[in-house]
Amino acid sequence: MAEEFDQYSHDYEHLVTDSIRDSFGGGSEFYNARKMDLLLRFFRRGGRQTSPMAWLDVGCGQGDLLGMGKPYFSRVAGCDPSAGMLSAVQGIEVKRQPSATELPYESASFDFVTAVCVYHHVIPEERVKLTNEVGRVLRSGGIFAMIEHNPYNPVTQLVVSRVPVDKDAQLLSSRSARRVESAAGLKPFRTEYFLYLPKPLYQRAGRLENLIDWFPLGGQYAAYALKP
Ligand SMILES: C[S@@+](CC[C@H](N)C(=O)[O-])C[C@H]1O[C@@H](n2cnc3c(N)ncnc32)[C@H](O)[C@@H]1O
Repeated sequence: MAEEFDQYSHDYEHLVTDSIRDSFGGGSEFYNARKMDLLLRFFRRGGRQTSPMAWLDVGCGQGDLLGMGKPYFSRVAGCDPSAGMLSAVQGIEVKRQPSATELPYESASFDFVTAVCVYHHVIPEERVKLTNEVGRVLRSGGIFAMIEHNPYNPVTQLVVSRVPVDKDAQLLSSRSARRVESAAGLKPFRTEYFLYLPKPLYQRAGRLENLIDWFPLGGQYAAYALKP
């Protein structure tokens, strides 16, 4: 699956462009900014400072989310099996994954690991193996956040069915995400749903979206799990 992204990488922004996606949020910048808001709010709510933390983004693609988050963490790093996607990354530590289920970093070297819109491109048989690796690179007490498309949101389903890069996508529900995390020895403890409101409304009434983050119909979700 990763090799496909080598082909998409030269024209990635164009290939994820879709009229429904664009009328909801414009280009990728809004979607990345929304995720950054979500993650920083998660740590603020838990009373945890991100400034001393090392963050790894698995399947970082072209590194846009890491670029946004860099000022908030002591170290940001990414990895991806697609050399084509990584070739667009600038000014961020990235490494190519040797395979779909191996991460090129030392054990217990990160406090926070994310995988954003990655698992629906990972075949179901390999999801627990990849998550075992997430657990290996996390320090004890570290957190994994899997961010995924929500298959119960009809707009998400429609966009996924239209966007070329998602032609082989196999969406997973938040329940499946938590099952994968548990099977890899992590402890799921919170799920937040987001992307209910289109960009102009979110900019005016983002607090409303935050109030309903427990309601499982948002366009995407973040399934947080702890490394014991
Ligand atoms: C839809 S893109 C998302 C990129 C980035 N996370 C973002 O949100 O913009 C999916 C990415 O997952 C990567 N990917 C696919 N299989 C993977 C795997 N087994 N492990 C890590 N990354 C993988 C692809 O190469 C691609 O860069």
